[in-house]
Amino acid sequence: MTDKERTLCGVLCDRDAERRVFLTGWVDALRDHGDVLFIHLRDRSGIVQVVFDPRHTPETVMRLADSLRVEFCLSVTGRVVRREQGTENPHIPTGTVEVAADELVILNTSKPIPFAISEKAMVAGAAAAPAEAVTEDMRLAYRYLDLRRPSMQENLMFRHRVFGKARAVLDDLGFVEIETPMLTKSTPEGARDYLVPSRIYPRRFFALPQSPQLFKQLLMVGGLERYYQFARCFRDEDLRPNRQPEFTQLDMEASFIDESFIRDTVEALVQAMFGEKGIELTRPFPRMTWHEAMDRMGTDRPDTRFDMQFVEASDIFSGTSYGIFREILRGGGHIKGINVKGQAGNLSKNVLQNEYAKVIVPSFGAAGMTWMKIAGGAPESNIVHFFSDGERAALMERFNAADGDVIIMIADTSYKIVVGALGQLRLHLADRLGLIPSGVYRPLWVTDFPLFTRSRGKLTSNHHPFTAPDRDDFDPGDEADLLSLKSRSYDLVVNGEELGGGSMRIHDARLQRAIFRCLGLPEDEVEERFGFFLRALEYGAPPHGGIALGMDRVVSMILGTDSIREVIAFPKNRKAFCPLSEAPSPVSRRQLSDLGLLDLDAGGWVDGRKIMGG
Ligand code: AMO
Repeated sequence: MTDKERTLCGVLCDRDAERRVFLTGWVDALRDHGDVLFIHLRDRSGIVQVVFDPRHTPETVMRLADSLRVEFCLSVTGRVVRREQGTENPHIPTGTVEVAADELVILNTSKPIPFAISEKAMVAGAAAAPAEAVTEDMRLAYRYLDLRRPSMQENLMFRHRVFGKARAVLDDLGFVEIETPMLTKSTPEGARDYLVPSRIYPRRFFALPQSPQLFKQLLMVGGLERYYQFARCFRDEDLRPNRQPEFTQLDMEASFIDESFIRDTVEALVQAMFGEKGIELTRPFPRMTWHEAMDRMGTDRPDTRFDMQFVEASDIFSGTSYGIFREILRGGGHIKGINVKGQAGNLSKNVLQNEYAKVIVPSFGAAGMTWMKIAGGAPESNIVHFFSDGERAALMERFNAADGDVIIMIADTSYKIVVGALGQLRLHLADRLGLIPSGVYRPLWVTDFPLFTRSRGKLTSNHHPFTAPDRDDFDPGDEADLLSLKSRSYDLVVNGEELGGGSMRIHDARLQRAIFRCLGLPEDEVEERFGFFLRALEYGAPPHGGIALGMDRVVSMILGTDSIREVIAFPKNRKAFCPLSEAPSPVSRRQLSDLGLLDLDAGGWVDGRKIMGG
């Protein structure tokens, strides 16, 4: 068999009628009419119907065809014929033709498959193979079969094209693709490391990279000026549908540039990648500071496909006699709200009071919420009589309220709780009321993040500690000053999902040391973990900056899949386990001993079992 003789199943059409073709592939589905056998033959390009009929198929071939089963691997030779009118199959692009087989070779048989793969019905109007409930673990355990499904193949082939587009854009801009090590030292990105023990250096460990951050910066010190890489990153963190322990970044870094270069480059890239699916994105992408995003939508990754932005209401109630608001404002608190425009008919009093005020909003961390429906030009609810005429009028004006609107307000002494809960409520309502338009993509740059946040009594970097601050005149001992620092960072958010993040970097060793000091890292730990990097900055490191895009998320968003697992060939499951290879798996005592992790003579514990020495 040579590939030169082969015709692809999915390309056959009327124009091929009467051509003799040699096809290879798998049996997608069979329909046995007693004397005549129809099969759907599937290869990577698509599906075509093949007919075994005694009128054109030799008897020996008919007998062999009798033994065909789903997912047998075959080669078939035959003549392309137009299908009779009324027997065309609109489910497949080749549905106007079929191949009258006269030769058949079974290249390999297949055991009965554990779940249906076929996605295309053989008969017009019929459903594809009966939809059975297949657990994801089952799909992943037999991923090689799952990958035969046309939809999975399309996802992976599309991913390939998107990667190609990105390469072309970056090559044009003079970026150089360079690989950085997998066996390396910990790069802090906020997750736990996957560690790899060294045999040659017993009880020492490599860390798999959480990102190539330090190495890409070293490439800038090394004078490469523009770098990119499709980098595999490893993070031991809680999983979600858009998170994998092992994922792919399009990682970039450039020297002698500023934020506008990164924005232009990434916008060109993202436009080209989304364009691969015909999605047009308008440039420049809008920008919003972190503070605006929090204040107006309660999150650092706002979904701007719909409006419902927060309205400030604290000042309206500064002299209120409504006890709850008065106490909250007296305690330095805040009142903010949203106007759910024209939805009064879809949000009953019962839903607002018993679902949202009592259950949903408390689950977002706020004590409760206040709601009002607008009717007859005025707000109505069980509490509006506590408000003065002036307060009611001010509310109507501030919220731009009209009949049929619903105003919801959250008040709390904590600003974080007000915006956080209102942000989640905004998303919940938009989802429930169908306010999020489909097929719409709204990119947004979120900038000016605080450099540090305080968590569990300590300062931590909002991005990573190599991010440049907006000023360098800070006092490492003055926490309030440190918390007022902004970073020169930018996140790319599309439809409320973070697709990428990056920053201008610190290229001055002294400033980098000061940042480590602010983070409370002792000198010896800084030297041990980052000494090699700090030394590099001391040798004429150029100003530089970069970004990384989460490519699994990018492809998944373009294709609209539920999870990034649908665009990764061999993902881990929700529990960071590989059901196919059953990794992670135990290793032998000998391997542990070779790695210096077990003293065979001393005995010990492996997998919860006591083992004896020797
Ligand atoms: P960051 O940590 O923001 O930045 O990561 C960049 C992008 O990678 C994606 N991402 C993930 N995708 C799938 N599974 C995960 N577990 C996962 N974690 C992150 C996200 C994210 O926006 N070194 C910096 C970049 C830089 O500063 O240049 C970094 O890694 O889409």
